[in-house]
Amino acid sequence: MAEERGMALVTCTAPVNIAVIKYWGKRDTELILPINSSLSVTLHQDQLRTTTTAAASRDFTEDRLWLNGEEVDAAQPRLQACLREVRRLARKRRGDDDPSPLNLSYKVHVASENNFPTAAGLASSAAGYACLVSALARLYGVEGELSEVARRGSGSACRSMLGGFVQWHRGERPDGRDSVAQQLAPETHWPELRVLILVVSGEKKAVGSTAGMQSSVDTSPLLKYRAEAVVPERLSRMARHIQERDFEGFGQLTMQDSNQFHATCLDTFPPIFYLNDVSRAIIALAHRYNAHHGRTKVAYTFDAGPNAVIFALEDTVPEFVAVLRRSFPPASNGDQFLRGLPVAPVALPEELVAAVVAEPVPGAVRYVLHTQPGPGPQLLRDPERHLLGADGLPRRTA
Ligand code: DP6
Repeated sequence: MAEERGMALVTCTAPVNIAVIKYWGKRDTELILPINSSLSVTLHQDQLRTTTTAAASRDFTEDRLWLNGEEVDAAQPRLQACLREVRRLARKRRGDDDPSPLNLSYKVHVASENNFPTAAGLASSAAGYACLVSALARLYGVEGELSEVARRGSGSACRSMLGGFVQWHRGERPDGRDSVAQQLAPETHWPELRVLILVVSGEKKAVGSTAGMQSSVDTSPLLKYRAEAVVPERLSRMARHIQERDFEGFGQLTMQDSNQFHATCLDTFPPIFYLNDVSRAIIALAHRYNAHHGRTKVAYTFDAGPNAVIFALEDTVPEFVAVLRRSFPPASNGDQFLRGLPVAPVALPEELVAAVVAEPVPGAVRYVLHTQPGPGPQLLRDPERHLLGADGLPRRTA
């Protein structure tokens, strides 16, 4: 923690995660307690990350928050809940009469930015709240179980507090103390696993997940059945596939769970549609590709938006990316089509093109981001990376 003129300052980064067994529905909207446990893969911060600087000073007169350079309302309840929880843990840790290094009544300034489009269905709130809680916890010297705090910002954020393969246990207690994230395996567990994010739209999603899932809880009998009868068995099966690095099992279950989540959205009344025609074209393409090879080589999953996330093993990626280029020819920025980890170009066998590639839809996939599983939140020690300057206000970054 840097201290300048009585101001304490911390900067962290945090990852996005993608659920393979989805969280959809709360049993307690205040504490953000889910109706079912969920399981996710944390994505690497080299490609997708939130960076957050949190500062506290006696000179600050109010809590202030900047998101991607724009000041927004810091009074929002979820932000305040995280702040309150971190301060409560700090108070508990210090004891009542401990002379505190940082006065807990100081106001905070927080600046946060994503290196990917906000609210595009890329779980920006998960990385955002995980990063906020990580930075605040460092600021106040709090350690230990922080996923419970991040959960108060956004349910899926609790899973971004850990790297690799992560389960969020729904918990049984009404106070939510046991509704926490747990790492099942670190990111190094499955070195060949790769992730392709197919960005089909950078638009804000039509129905946000918070409102969408509440509407599903209120109206969808399928959601209730899913939470009670389907998810528990799927969780143990998914954990086993991951443990055994069984891509076929992992991939099939990932696709089935994504499909069931979107089925609960359709079962919601009025129905919610997150997938669009491009999403459905990607689903069909993945199935044709797997059928051509006679096994599951790629697996799709979709959250509350039209972007697809594809899992594949490293040796499948060059061929599948070539299939994507043929199916969704880049409109103009051909060089920019593939971003993130490099992929070797390959020539596609004609019989594969004939069997797998349907009528090409130019420009339908804006770009593909190639990444892999990664670690949990990180502390940045380089002062150059702080988003707030010595005056506690956003720095002009390039
Ligand atoms: C479809 O965590 O964004 O991505 O708890 O209301 O903030 P709130 O919802 P949020 O929901 C994520 C839903 C999902 C599935 C998942 O990530 O498990």
